[in-house]
Amino acid sequence: MKKKIVFGLLLALPMFFIACGGENTNTNKTTPSDENKEQAATEESADAVTYDPRRGEGKFDSSNLQIKGLDAAMASKGKAISDTKCMSCHKVTDEMLVGPGWKGVTNRHTPYWLMNFITNPDPMIDKDPKVQQQLEVCLVRMPNQNLADEEARAILEYMRKNDGAK
Ligand code: HEC
Repeated sequence: MKKKIVFGLLLALPMFFIACGGENTNTNKTTPSDENKEQAATEESADAVTYDPRRGEGKFDSSNLQIKGLDAAMASKGKAISDTKCMSCHKVTDEMLVGPGWKGVTNRHTPYWLMNFITNPDPMIDKDPKVQQQLEVCLVRMPNQNLADEEARAILEYMRKNDGAK
C-alpha cells in the first residue's frame, strides 16, 4: 500500500518539475490577474475586501509573533524539519522545484504572512494574489503539512538565516 503511494509520487514529481521549471520564462501573461479580478468580483467579494495581503489569513499577527535577532539553535531545528517536510518541493536557492525557491522569501513576505501560510496554506492559496500567480506557474497547490506552531516558527527562523538575518 505504502509502496504504491510512493511510486505514484515518483511518477508525478517529474511532471510537476517540468510544469514549474519550464514555464518560468513566460509567467506574467495578462490572464492570471484578469482571472483574479473576476474571481474577486464574483464569488469571494467579501473576502477580497477583508483579506490583508501583508498579513495573510490565520492567527498570526504582531500580537503573537515577535521577530528579534537570529536564534541559531531554532534555525537549525527549522532546517531539520524542512529537510523532511519541505525540501521535496522547495530549494533554498532562488531556483524553482515544485514550488518557488526560498531565497529572498523573507523579503517577499512579512513574518506574519509566512507563519499563516506555512501553518494553513489553503485559504491563502484561494485568496492571495501572489500565491495565485505562483499557482499559475506551479500548477500544484502546496499541501498543508500539519505543522505545530513551534515547528513553523523554527522554519521561519531557518528561512531568515538563509536570507542572511543576524
Ligand atoms: C508538494 C510540494 C510542496 C511541499 C511538500 C511544500 N510546498 Fe511550499 N509551496 C509549494 C507550491 C506549489 C507553492 C506555490 C504556491 C502554490 O501554488 O500553492 C509553495 C509556496 C510556498 C511558500 C511561498 C513562497 C513564495 O516565494 O512566496 C512558502 C513560504 C512555502 N511554500 C513554504 C513551505 C514549507 C515551510 C514547507 C514544509 C513544511 C513546504 N512549503 C512544503 C509546494 C510545496
